[in-house]
Amino acid sequence: MTPDGQLAYWSSTGVAKSFTHPLDVAWLPGLPGTARIVDYGCGYGRVTGLLREHGFTAVEGVDPSPGLLARARRTHPGLAFTLLADPPHLPFPDGGVDAVLVFAVLTCIPADDDQRRLLAELTRVLRPRGLLYVSDVLLQTDARNQDRYRRGAERYGTHGVFDVGDGAVCRHHSPEHLRGLLTGYELVAERELTVETMNGNPVGALQLLARKGR
Ligand SMILES: C[S@@+](CC[C@H](N)C(=O)[O-])C[C@H]1O[C@@H](n2cnc3c(N)ncnc32)[C@H](O)[C@@H]1O
Repeated sequence: MTPDGQLAYWSSTGVAKSFTHPLDVAWLPGLPGTARIVDYGCGYGRVTGLLREHGFTAVEGVDPSPGLLARARRTHPGLAFTLLADPPHLPFPDGGVDAVLVFAVLTCIPADDDQRRLLAELTRVLRPRGLLYVSDVLLQTDARNQDRYRRGAERYGTHGVFDVGDGAVCRHHSPEHLRGLLTGYELVAERELTVETMNGNPVGALQLLARKGR
């Protein structure tokens, strides 16, 4: 299970953080400007806003943090944002979404079961052949991270889960773990990159673009 208090973190300390995973819009090939795109765990609407700037008119951000959504609405008054009352449940019917983006969200969901539940819900709302674009943080090799993975494994039982120190519990992943979440999808593209964490540290990350089966 996800440690208690994680949603509370995103409604308090997390509200003032900055997020950085870059969007490669060339990864949304052939999608018309009217495609229905959901930015899952949108935070303050950074990626939702970028999608709109690139001409996608039917974008919607969803997030469980009222504080981050208030920030999103202030920053992007013309965009649609919906509060997730019961994540990962999405208030959408089956199969109506053309693409879902999940940027730096799995890192906030430490437990395997919770990550799998999220993927099942995204699969439910995506149409057949819909696109799933995941960006998340990889396991790091430096001593500071190795040390906190060791302490986190003792506490949470999963390698890569750790206490950040400000109340957040985060997870870093192997590429195999991230790819393994995409059962029933065809992997279309993959790239490794360096991003900055919300606390300003450079980390290796992985982006995956996958297409749902029929
Ligand atoms: C690191 S931020 C990334 C925000 C945004 N995707 C971006 O890249 O700018 C993580 C976001 O995931 C949200 N989040 C945390 N736990 C979640 C959960 N269980 N379900 C959905 N969203 C969650 C947080 O509220 C926060 O907005």
